[in-house]
Amino acid sequence: MTDDVLLVHGGNPLEGEIRVRGAKNLVPKAMVAALLGQGPSRLRNVPDIRDVKVVRGLLQLHGVTVRIGDEDGELILDPSHVESANVADIDAHAGSSRIPILFCGPLLHRLGHAFIPGLGGCDIGGRPVDFHFEVLRQFGATIEKHPQGTYLVAQQRLRGTRIELPYPSVGATEQVLLTAVLAEGVTELRNAAIEPEIVDLICVLQKMGAIITLGTDRTILITGVDELGGYNHRALPDRLEAASWACAALATKGDIYVRGARQLEMMTFLNTFRKVGGAFEVDDEGIRFWHSGGELKAIALETDVHPGFQTDWQQPLVVALTQATGLSIVHETVYESRLGFTGALNQMGAHIQLYSECLGATPCRFGARNFQHSAVVSGPSKLIGSELVIPDLRGGFSYLIAALAAEGTSTVHGIDLINRGYENFMDKLRDLGAHVELPGELPPVAAGEPSGELVDA
Ligand code: EPU
Repeated sequence: MTDDVLLVHGGNPLEGEIRVRGAKNLVPKAMVAALLGQGPSRLRNVPDIRDVKVVRGLLQLHGVTVRIGDEDGELILDPSHVESANVADIDAHAGSSRIPILFCGPLLHRLGHAFIPGLGGCDIGGRPVDFHFEVLRQFGATIEKHPQGTYLVAQQRLRGTRIELPYPSVGATEQVLLTAVLAEGVTELRNAAIEPEIVDLICVLQKMGAIITLGTDRTILITGVDELGGYNHRALPDRLEAASWACAALATKGDIYVRGARQLEMMTFLNTFRKVGGAFEVDDEGIRFWHSGGELKAIALETDVHPGFQTDWQQPLVVALTQATGLSIVHETVYESRLGFTGALNQMGAHIQLYSECLGATPCRFGARNFQHSAVVSGPSKLIGSELVIPDLRGGFSYLIAALAAEGTSTVHGIDLINRGYENFMDKLRDLGAHVELPGELPPVAAGEPSGELVDA
């Protein structure tokens, strides 16, 4: 498919302004939460990304009316007539996203049963869903796995329970929240994830009438209620997209104002960005990120659950680290296979060596299991344009950054994957002065070059 290929002519700084909207890792989940209400919900700041379209399709299959509101980026979701969906229709969404697993609790409450198709999402590790099914069993659901998907049944109202997650999983914490709010009695969740997107989901649920107490020690208490209403909510901004553009500014020696970015959810990223040699300035509307001049500095980096350094920030930052002087050490502790994308960076001229040992002190599940989850990045390296195939969402965006920082032209295959989580990324790249070209298009004209058009003298 030729329109899934992008030619990137690198070597120019990205400069200008772009805007980020609501977080990819909150918006689809807030849409699922609307299923729990008796009345319509209004979600604002919704980005136009594929995960939103997938959830919209699944909600509509279950009788939820979803329409675009008057405000830009507004969705109105009306779950007044929730109904069972045809299994074959649901199955058409198999492999599209990981969000369908979060329909379990709401559908069990509304219909007493649920069918969940095979899940999609990025190939950055095994990504099991064992915690999800275990907690649903604890609430009283019965689960049957079939080749085409999973059937769940609740013979009676689900009951609150005590849960301790083996790892603070974002998805499993959301599963508990979306199930416990309408379950009978109190649910105590220990070792919960507390990412900002989860706290925003708790705000959504509280607006609907839920009673949720967020402790300081990863404990969440949820008192089940009999009924929930709709909500009116503006989604928190996408801190992962904002950081991706910040890394693009750093790697290309550019200067990007990210309208919509917010300091509160990005504090850990901002500290690291500054240590590497990036500069930033926060104002009420967004954050400006730029390369502060001089050499970038090598750092030691470990990804972790919030409030640690978010794993989704790791891949774009590694591209910038290829331009830092010295040895950077990266220890990925959230996903076992999130460093595979570095092979292509080496092909472009980077020097990145992977290790299965834990190169850091953060407790990690992967060292003993021989996964190559640590890296040593030796820089600075001159990157040269190359042929690249996008492996996953963040890795894919990182390839775009590398191609923009490189000398010469890169051919990037599979760019459609980036639409899963980056709204209008082609327009944004062009707004920032990137020289990108879909095959068959006329090449972009650099500022000051004659356009070649005939003009009246
Ligand atoms: N895990 C299990 N069993 C489970 C669930 C998780 O072993 O049942 C493990 C995973 O294999 C992984 C770790 O726990 O090693 C963390 O997974 P988590 O459940 O926290 O991740 P997720 O909910 O599947 C969300 C985001 C990811 C983000 C992670 C971590 C969405 C749709 N996805 O995934 O985002 O990296 O939390 O913050 O919210 C991305 O945006 O590119 C992305 C991958």
